Amino acid sequence: MLKEQTAFNTNNESDNGETNALRNWLNRVHQGDTLEIMGNMPGKSVGVVVTSPPYNLKNSTGNGLKDGRGGKWPNAGLIKGYADHNDSMPHDAYVQWQRDCLSEMMRLLEDDGAIFYNHKWRVQNGVLQDRSDIVDGFPVRQIIIWQRPGGFNHNPGYFLPTYEVIYLIAKPKFVLAPRAGGIGDVWSIPPARGNPHPAPFPFELARRCIQATTADIVLDPFLGSGTTAVAAEYCGRDWIGIELSEDYCEVAQSRIQDGWRGDPT
Ligand SMILES: C[S@@+](CC[C@H](N)C(=O)[O-])C[C@H]1O[C@@H](n2cnc3c(N)ncnc32)[C@H](O)[C@@H]1O
Repeated sequence: MLKEQTAFNTNNESDNGETNALRNWLNRVHQGDTLEIMGNMPGKSVGVVVTSPPYNLKNSTGNGLKDGRGGKWPNAGLIKGYADHNDSMPHDAYVQWQRDCLSEMMRLLEDDGAIFYNHKWRVQNGVLQDRSDIVDGFPVRQIIIWQRPGGFNHNPGYFLPTYEVIYLIAKPKFVLAPRAGGIGDVWSIPPARGNPHPAPFPFELARRCIQATTADIVLDPFLGSGTTAVAAEYCGRDWIGIELSEDYCEVAQSRIQDGWRGDPT
């Protein structure tokens, strides 16, 4: 059962205009630009951020998702980008945007808070994009490998990619929940299934991140289909979700209202 009414908020601020009243932000999907909305939130107000930003995959030089043609990946969910974000920014602009987003997340974190930032490494034009240009200067404490089964291998020159990374970016006072560290830093989790969003992460990934902390309030500034909110409800934590696309907000809203039904995706 939802802890409070899960209103779909398009105001970019709390209902009564008091942007400092944190309770008005809780357990709601806030539709709009994440930097703008995070900018309206009070500082040091959330205990943990669990998120997966757009990966900017459509500026790929490979056989993948470039320019909507899809190359050898005709069924790739992101061929058209996201509903309201084309996922094809110039690399430098993308890096700066993500750094600005991480700075806002750090401002919003309590002194013992942490960010679980899911991303993907790749090689682009022979250059390793290990996302260090995004996270450089932020307090990265650990890198978790999300090991997942691959799909089909379309390229005879490459091994099938089967992992993503989760940066644990933590403020100095952050500690894991009791016994959480024992699960190790390689997490084998199947990808989400049956989710209409083009790039969801699985429920189990969000659940592990949240339950690895004792945070009361969970923020996902790129909420997508609402997986983090569903997992936060399951874990009995309050949450705040931000998502640009109205369509995805509706998907999120409906998944949150449906609640946890035992499907591990
Ligand atoms: C990788 S997806 C997140 C998927 C999510 N973890 C899930 O399980 O469904 C990234 C999301 O960021 C959203 N997005 C892109 N630009 C945004 C912006 N400026 N503000 C808020 N959300 C944005 C996209 O619409 C997309 O849904």
